[in-house]
Amino acid sequence: MTLIVPLSERSESSLDRYVINGRTPICGVIDIHGAKNAALPIVAACLLTDQAVLLRNIPPLSDIGVMQAILHSLGVNSEWQAGELRIHPNVVNSHVIPESLMQEMRSSVIIVGPLLARYGRVSASYPGGCAIGERPIDLHIKGLCALGAKVVDEGGGCLTFSASKLRGARVHLETPSVGATENIMMAACLAEGETLIENAAREPEVLDLQNFLNALGAKVSGAGQNTIHIAGVSALKGAEYTIISDRIVAGTYLLAALMTEGRITLTSVIAEDLRPLLSRMSDMGADIAVADNAVTLSMRGRPRAVEEVRTMPHPGFPTDLQAPMLAALCLAEGKSVLTETMFESRFKHVEELKRMGAQIAVEGRKAIISGIERFSGATVRATDLRAGAALTLAGLAASGTTVVEDVYHIDRGYVALDQSLTRLGGRVVRKR
Ligand code: UD1
Repeated sequence: MTLIVPLSERSESSLDRYVINGRTPICGVIDIHGAKNAALPIVAACLLTDQAVLLRNIPPLSDIGVMQAILHSLGVNSEWQAGELRIHPNVVNSHVIPESLMQEMRSSVIIVGPLLARYGRVSASYPGGCAIGERPIDLHIKGLCALGAKVVDEGGGCLTFSASKLRGARVHLETPSVGATENIMMAACLAEGETLIENAAREPEVLDLQNFLNALGAKVSGAGQNTIHIAGVSALKGAEYTIISDRIVAGTYLLAALMTEGRITLTSVIAEDLRPLLSRMSDMGADIAVADNAVTLSMRGRPRAVEEVRTMPHPGFPTDLQAPMLAALCLAEGKSVLTETMFESRFKHVEELKRMGAQIAVEGRKAIISGIERFSGATVRATDLRAGAALTLAGLAASGTTVVEDVYHIDRGYVALDQSLTRLGGRVVRKR
């Protein structure tokens, strides 16, 4: 098995930082890598079959390493071959997900549905992940219980799920949770009978999971809309599959060009999935052209403020781009208001951006931003993945030198962000 080493085993990388010398425009062409949030459930879904799976465009990120390590702990080997991930799920010989791996990332919880469907039993602790607020898993639990799972709280944060046979059911989600939708979808593929997931998450990554499951022989339809229908089948086969590109990574590079008066072309993107961001960036004054699988953005002068941006489930403005967007609005002429409706404490980057001169007042879930002309370089700390991206963007636009500490957070979601930005004209050096 070859895997990307999870963070817990890479303590030395936690000392890494980016040293950024700002004020060069981000210009050029970049091919956007595969989507972390599509790859994670798709790798987990491989537990649903006992035949080999070949996955293309999986990004080599530390979170993927955690998912591989979880599969390995259950007896499933995987290896990288020429940038492709080959998974061999012929044997699953454990139902216990190690607590240390559950703690590394919240999405470890999406292993529960497929493991339950395959093995009939799962022992897992509550998941960890980015420190962006309360992130319960009640909807995952309720959904799996509706399919017939029994859940026992063993104490000490440990849960045991069991089901000799899952049965299709109608599941109505109170909130369109991405992870809960995916977990229930995966478990329902091998359940007896039909499942309906109402108020399902409509994110493009849910649609990619549907396409993958159908490539394995599942019968799933409706992803991308409010209701997903799954007709259970008795077994799934192997497949080769290419996952979609990462719309959050794409958005981050577009904002980098917008903030540095650059010109960038992204290739291998699904422009439709970027629409909520593109329309905001066009309001801010960016010139945007969309072609087949490509988006070009060019920017001259200071961005204009935006009266209101609210994060919402897809097709609304994505919460994962809130922090990078906030960094961009700091440079806009006028006052902008950005409201975070999805996660209650996702403003940790605000204090760090203020160290660079930003003028932001947080009132509950609203950030009120009075635009400044320029950031000033400072030493700041990435408090989570997208906060790290936001601070890197601020550094690219800042006068002087910016040091972003704790870049291991950035490694969870961006493949070699420093090197890609350098190729595009930024001056970003990773140092230990
Ligand atoms: C996924 C994404 C993450 C993104 C988020 C929202 C992955 C691997 N991660 O996370 O990058 O920020 O969607 O777009 O795809 N909730 C409950 N109970 C639950 C589950 C969720 O109340 O059982 C709430 C959460 O607290 C949150 C909201 O639902 O307020 C959305 O969370 P959810 O869509 O589940 O996020 P994730 O799937 O964890």
